[in-house]
Amino acid sequence: MIARLTLAAVLLCAAAPPPGASSCSGCHGPAAQLPVLAGRPVADTVAAMDAFRAGTRPATVMDRIAKGFTPAETQAIAAWWAEATP
Ligand code: HEC
Repeated sequence: MIARLTLAAVLLCAAAPPPGASSCSGCHGPAAQLPVLAGRPVADTVAAMDAFRAGTRPATVMDRIAKGFTPAETQAIAAWWAEATP
């Protein structure tokens, strides 16, 4: 039962973006000068977001954006973008 619910949750996550994920594309779209997030490895996006949140990586806006998400939310957003078509 729990396994089935977990699978359903995973499938749902694959179909719809997790909270916050679609907000990224306004700046990180194909037409933007910024790095494209689609197809980027999960660990890569998570590491960047962690560094922005911790303040160890210089940023103009990403430090503030990264602070708006918990590590679990960041992981879900990164996983969704990794699966998205570049
Ligand atoms: C308001 C515009 C804006 C939004 C919205 C935005 N970003 Fe960014 N992002 C930037 C800018 C600008 C940089 C360059 C660092 C800086 O100046 O903050 C950046 C850099 C990054 C980087 C590092 C890329 C690299 O290789 O240098 C990652 C990863 C990233 N953003 C992820 C995200 C995610 C995930 C979201 C959605 C939760 C998001 N961004 C939403 C503007 C934005």
